[in-house]
Amino acid sequence: MKNLFLRKRPAKSQSGDEHQQGETPLEASTESGENTYNNEHDYPTSETPLPESEIASDEVAAAAVTTVDEPQKKIKPKKDMLPPYDGPVLEVRNVHRSFQTGSRIIHVLKGIDMEVNPQQLVMLKGRSGSGKTTLLNMLGGLDQPSSGDILFSGQPLQDWGDRRRTALRRKEIGFIFQAYALMPLLSAWENVELSLRMADVPRAEWKDRVGHCLDLVGLSKRVKHRPFEMSGGEQQRVAIAKAIAHRPRLLLADEPTAELDSKMGAQVMAVFRNIIEVEQVTICMTTHDPTILEVADHVYEMADGRFIR
Ligand SMILES: Nc1ncnc2c1ncn2[C@@H]1O[C@H](COP(=O)(O)OP(=O)(O)OP(=O)(O)O)[C@@H](O)[C@H]1O
Ligand SMILES: [Mg+2]
Repeated sequence: MKNLFLRKRPAKSQSGDEHQQGETPLEASTESGENTYNNEHDYPTSETPLPESEIASDEVAAAAVTTVDEPQKKIKPKKDMLPPYDGPVLEVRNVHRSFQTGSRIIHVLKGIDMEVNPQQLVMLKGRSGSGKTTLLNMLGGLDQPSSGDILFSGQPLQDWGDRRRTALRRKEIGFIFQAYALMPLLSAWENVELSLRMADVPRAEWKDRVGHCLDLVGLSKRVKHRPFEMSGGEQQRVAIAKAIAHRPRLLLADEPTAELDSKMGAQVMAVFRNIIEVEQVTICMTTHDPTILEVADHVYEMADGRFIR
C-alpha cells in the first residue's frame, strides 16, 4: 500500500514550516474535530493529584510487565545507567529459549542472531507461534534466554540482576502493546504524565514533556480526552506518547497496528518514523501486516524459532 505517511526518513524541513505552531502534519491531515483546548493554559496541570486508585492500579500494571520473580518495590533508576556506546542498541547472539510444560520441553527460539542499530525501525514478522513475542520480551529484559547473549548498548543483560534490569527497563525502554494498555480513567495528558511519575522524572519537567510528547503524536487537541473518548488509532498514539515520555533509547512494540484499520495503522507508522527523527529513539516491533513492512529499515522474518532471511 502506498501512503503518504509511509516515509522512511521524513525530511527535517517537514517538522513545522508548512504548519502552524502546535499543529503537526499528522494533525493537519487527520484531525477534523473541534479544538476545545486552544492554548497551553487549558491543559490540565501536573498539580492535579491523581486518584489513588489510578496510581495503585498503574503500579500493578507496571509490575505486570516486569518479571514475575521480582518483588514489586519502587526502584529508583540511576541517572545514567549505561556508559556511552556507539555500537548497536541491541546485539543478539545465538539466543535459544525453551520452556518446560509438564514433562515436555518446548524449544521456541532456536539460535537467533540480530542487530538493531541506533535510530533504526526494525520489524519482526512471521506466522503466529513463530516466536516473535518471546524474542521481543527477551530484548526488553522481561525474560531471559536459555542460552546465548543479548547486549543492550554493549551491556550483557543476562549478567545483570533483576533489580538492575528492572531499572534499565524503566529508564531506557518503552513498551507498546496491541491493546494500548492505557489507564481508562485518566485523560491522555494524565496517562503520559503517569509514565514520568513512574520513571521518577522531576515534577518540574512534566508539563513541557507531556505537551511535547502529545504534540509529537499529533494529539495536542485531545489532551483531556479519556481512552473511551478516542479512536483506536488515537489511543495507540497516546500509548506511544506514554512510552517515549521518559526518553527511552529503545521502543519495543508488539503488534502495535493489529487492532487498527489500514489508515490508522499508517498513522501509527508515521508517528514511529517521526519520533525516530525527533527523539532519536530506536524501534523494534512485531507485525503480521505486510502493508507496513516497507516502512522498516530492516525486516527479520521468523519461522519456527529461526530467522529465515
Ligand atoms: N511461557 C511459555 N510456556 C510455554 N510455551 C510458550 C511460552 N511462551 C511462549 N510459548 C510458546 O512459544 C511459541 C511462540 O510463541 P510467541 O508468543 O512468541 O509467538 P508469536 O510469534 O508472538 O505469535 P503471535 O503472532 O500469535 O503473537 C508458541 O508455540 C507458544 O505456545
Ligand atoms: Mg506475539
